[in-house]
Amino acid sequence: MSVAKTDDNRKVTTRRLMEMKQRGEKISMLTAYDFSMAKLIDHAGIDVILVGDSASNVMAGNITTLPITLDQMIYHGKSVMKAVNRALVVVDLPFGSYQGNSKEALASAIRVMKETHADCVKIEGGAEIKESVERILSAGIPIMGHLGLTPQSINKFGTYTVRAREEKEAEKLQEDARLLEELGCFGIVLEKIPAILAAKVAKERAIPIIGIGAGGGVDGQVLVMHDMLGINQEFSPRFLRRYANLGEVITGAVQNYVKDVKTGDFPNEAEQY
Ligand code: KIV
Repeated sequence: MSVAKTDDNRKVTTRRLMEMKQRGEKISMLTAYDFSMAKLIDHAGIDVILVGDSASNVMAGNITTLPITLDQMIYHGKSVMKAVNRALVVVDLPFGSYQGNSKEALASAIRVMKETHADCVKIEGGAEIKESVERILSAGIPIMGHLGLTPQSINKFGTYTVRAREEKEAEKLQEDARLLEELGCFGIVLEKIPAILAAKVAKERAIPIIGIGAGGGVDGQVLVMHDMLGINQEFSPRFLRRYANLGEVITGAVQNYVKDVKTGDFPNEAEQY
């Protein structure tokens, strides 16, 4: 089994993700919503950047992902695409832009691809969005699926607890994963489900399975950047590993700046013309 190759500067494609799964190389994926952060994480060697509808939470301050619009997702997608050279960029289709009407789903996906220049889209759900998946794929637009905890359906479930613990729900999830692969999706995100179930799906499916709160037996991991960098400090589920505490770093830096401005220490002689 090989380790992540951050010195490999070739553009990541859906095909290369499949090859990574085949040779047992884990796939790294993070969210980004703006130019500066996308530039940093692409440069750091991330394989996949997700312009997630979690932008609704961490960028816009909404409680759920439901309010974010297609126009807003396109704005974030465009900003990210201007920064990225290597990573595969996936843009979430937002709530209301693909469920129920497959023609509208295709129109939404086409707008994302034309206006952002991203590589592909991600949508939540299984059998219930089959027609939308088929129609988007028929236009040559690659799709990443998303099963398990699907935040756009939060009002149906009423809770963010672990999904598919019950046998019936676990069976449906496995069925949906099989369907998405059969239809032609290039990968699937599994969110907040038991590790044993996620590992089983990853083993049974040929396409890459990326987990968030789904254990280590899958083909890759995704986290929300603001959570893993400690910018968003209010969210600390068990699955989250914090790699930095930027919240504290930023607060400290701003406090020092305020102090320096108030005391007249900033700007000094060298910092003026
Ligand atoms: O929008 C998002 O950030 C996501 C991840 C949680 C996978 O869909």
